[in-house]
Amino acid sequence: MAPTSPSLKMLREQAAGCRACPLWKNATQTVFGEGPQHAQIVLVGEQPGDKEDLAGKPFVGPAGLMLDRALAEAGIDRKKAYVTNAVKHFKFVPRGKIRLHQKPTTPEIKACRQWYERELISIKPDLVVAMGATAAQSVFGKMTPINKNRGRLIDLAGGIKAVVTVHPSYLLRQPDAEARAREYERFVADLRIAAETLRKSARAA
Ligand code: URA
Repeated sequence: MAPTSPSLKMLREQAAGCRACPLWKNATQTVFGEGPQHAQIVLVGEQPGDKEDLAGKPFVGPAGLMLDRALAEAGIDRKKAYVTNAVKHFKFVPRGKIRLHQKPTTPEIKACRQWYERELISIKPDLVVAMGATAAQSVFGKMTPINKNRGRLIDLAGGIKAVVTVHPSYLLRQPDAEARAREYERFVADLRIAAETLRKSARAA
């Protein structure tokens, strides 16, 4: 009999005790991915933020609201997508009452990649969307520049397609309303490539 791939439930339970890098020490909990076992699309972010760390769910804070809006506009139902992060513990430095987000290092991204790989084996999606440089590094297994690679489909192993785009928090960091609107439209355009790919693979199935 062919070996069965682990369920997301099993993986989530295993990842709860992950000690593969030191980030678990200060974080509240592992924030594993969330979504249907048989999702057609996997969305990958960087790492949980303050709100996600407390809630134990990915993309529930300000970047998550931005993502929800853009997904809806591109015609992707978030409830049908599996949403996860390259790094599954919140990395921060305390600043008074605030926990200030810190970018994960390459060793931390590499240590956590095993969970992304297992999520992919378990779900077997048609398409992965890498949002931001950390996600792209995890999805492609090497540093992958966003601007050079966004706006088109890229082949991954196993017949899976990938789309690279910016992280939704990049949109929140834009200096003015005009730049925010422009970058938001580019983000939605990248997500529309993903939406169109999903429609095509659903028709082919
Ligand atoms: N940013 C991320 O990359 N992931 C989250 O879950 C929240 C914010």
